[in-house]
Amino acid sequence: MIFGAVVAGGTGTRMGRIDLPKQFMLLGNKPIIMHTIEKFLLCDMFDCIVLGIHKYWIDYTKELLENYNLNNEKIFITQGGKDRNLTILNIIDFLENKFGENENNIIVTHDAVRPFVTLRMIEENIISAEKYQACDTVVNSNDTVIYSQDKNFVSEIPDRNSIFLGQTPQSFSMSLLKKLYLSLTQEEKDTLTDACKIFYLKNKPVKLVKGEYFNFKITTISDYQIAQAMISGEKFDQ
Ligand code: CTP
Repeated sequence: MIFGAVVAGGTGTRMGRIDLPKQFMLLGNKPIIMHTIEKFLLCDMFDCIVLGIHKYWIDYTKELLENYNLNNEKIFITQGGKDRNLTILNIIDFLENKFGENENNIIVTHDAVRPFVTLRMIEENIISAEKYQACDTVVNSNDTVIYSQDKNFVSEIPDRNSIFLGQTPQSFSMSLLKKLYLSLTQEEKDTLTDACKIFYLKNKPVKLVKGEYFNFKITTISDYQIAQAMISGEKFDQ
C-alpha cells in the first residue's frame, strides 16, 4: 500500500505566533495545511493520507476538514510526537494498527508547511521509494555554499555542482524506516535533522528526486509573506 504522511505536530516557534501554529495560518483563503492536503489528494496512488497533528489542535483540524470540504474518507488524523521524526513514527504506528505490517508499504512524508509541493514531485517520490527504499526531494544550490567551522572564517567551499538543499517529500519503505530508526542510539537520534538522515547514518542509499525552489518551507514571517504573494498567481504543474 502507499500512504501519505503530512507532518503537522510542530508549534512554529520561529514564526512567532503563539496563538496559532503556522500550519493553520491563512494562505489566500484557506489554512496552509489545507493547501497541502489538497495537493496530496491530487495523487490517486495513495491508499490513505494521515495527518500527524499536535495534540492540542486535533479537534481544530477536524473542524477545518469539515469547513473546507476535505473530510475525505482517505484522510485520517493521529497525534504528533515530541519531534518531527516521532510524529512520523506515530503515523507509522497508526497505519500498522489499521492495516497491519507489510514490507512493501511505502510512506511519503511531507511537511504540512510546504503547500507548493506538486503532483510530479509526489509521484516521483513514490516511484523512487518503490525502487530504492528511500528518497529525498532536493534542489541544486544556486548560491555558493560556505562551510565555516568556527562560524567566523571560511573553512571550506564545496563544489556547488554537488551541493543540494533538502526539501520534502521524503519517502521510504515504511517498515525499513521504522526498523532503522529503532536501531539508532539516543546519541544518533539527537543528530537527526530529518528522516533521510536515518538511512544515511545506517549507510543505506537515498535516491535524489528533483524539487523546486518554490517548494520552500514556510518557517519565518518573510517566508509567509512570499507565500502570500505567490498564492494568488499559483500555477505550478511540473
Ligand atoms: N513537526 C511535527 N512534529 C513536531 C515538530 C515539527 O510534525 N514535533 C512538523 C511541523 O509541523 C512542520 C514540519 O515538521 O510541518 C517542519 O518543521 P518546522 O518547520 O521546524 O516546524 P515547527 O517545528 O512547527 O517550527 P519551529 O521549528 O519554528 O518551531
